[in-house]
Amino acid sequence: MIVTCDNCATRFRLDDKVVGDRPSFRAKCSRCGHLFTVSRLALAEDPVVLEEGHSIDDRGGFHTITVCNQKGGVAKTSTCINLGASLALLGKKVLLADFDVQANLSVLMGCRNNRSFFDVLEAGKPAELTKAILKVRPNIWVLPSNSRMALSSKKYLNQDGFEYVLQKHLEPVKDFFDYILIDTPPSIDFFTLNALMASDLAVIPTQSEFLAINGVNHIENIIGVIGEKTGHRLDYRILVTMYDQQNMASQVIMKQLRHRYGARVLDLLIARDPRLQESQIVRKPVIYYDKGAVSGRQYLDLARRVDALRRPAAATDAGLGAR
Ligand SMILES: Nc1ncnc2c1ncn2[C@@H]1O[C@H](COP(=O)(O)OP(=O)(O)OP(=O)(O)O)[C@@H](O)[C@H]1O
Ligand SMILES: [Mg+2]
Repeated sequence: MIVTCDNCATRFRLDDKVVGDRPSFRAKCSRCGHLFTVSRLALAEDPVVLEEGHSIDDRGGFHTITVCNQKGGVAKTSTCINLGASLALLGKKVLLADFDVQANLSVLMGCRNNRSFFDVLEAGKPAELTKAILKVRPNIWVLPSNSRMALSSKKYLNQDGFEYVLQKHLEPVKDFFDYILIDTPPSIDFFTLNALMASDLAVIPTQSEFLAINGVNHIENIIGVIGEKTGHRLDYRILVTMYDQQNMASQVIMKQLRHRYGARVLDLLIARDPRLQESQIVRKPVIYYDKGAVSGRQYLDLARRVDALRRPAAATDAGLGAR
């Protein structure tokens, strides 16, 4: 790795082993004595040559995805982890941002009691974000949550522009990742609003059960209000989770969902799968726990769909092009 002193511009060759997996580290220049922070998130990739006519819009598709539903226990966290792990297996660099005080994602990814986004806000410097981000598996990084996250809404909810805080902080690290997936709590609050404002797609997991439509309606309204008030238009897709093929009621509700939301209901679904629950006991994404698990294969299919959606040419063939 080449590190350049940001005071005297001397360039140093540094052995990667010295810094290990840390996303950022402090360095001292032996020439001028200057102390500075090096972010590997920014350094890790060769620069992309931006050719004329290759504007950022040509890249197309979704990059930051919020997984949300104010209904509890619908598999938001499970979807975030397993969609993220599947994208990582496809060779994508994925950041899982835990934006839920329950910190379930952090616990399941083995990042309990680490620095959270709240600690980054308290430090008062956006660059602190890179210190909070941890690499947990090949191609997977986590921005953990912890119990202090609860203080974020109390402290920042009444400040002007509170809903842009996450978006602003993600900006400097965004280009390092192919995907950023944000897990949210079962409520529409500081965290969910920030997540939606930072995203270009919302994935709304829902069970195929009687009250599902209420939950999806609510998020749909919030997305509409965000668009009207701020001009931030984000797309959304509905993912049916924990589907039970044998259950007649599930089949009927599934039809109702399709009737009400059309192509926004993904035409693949995630089955109720005991292997997924087992995988959480050992804190592994299901595809790492059991390559043959039904839900693991379905999340892998979902990852392929989401990734196809990023490439404009493939979008209409992917069955996701309801925009
Ligand atoms: N496909 C599945 N098959 C079986 N169980 C599942 C599946 N997906 C999720 N679960 C289980 O359902 C429960 C709720 O899942 P999860 O924690 O992901 O939901 P959530 O929407 O994030 O909940 P919360 O609203 O509390 O944040 C967990 O016990 C999880 O193991
Ligand atoms: Mg959750």
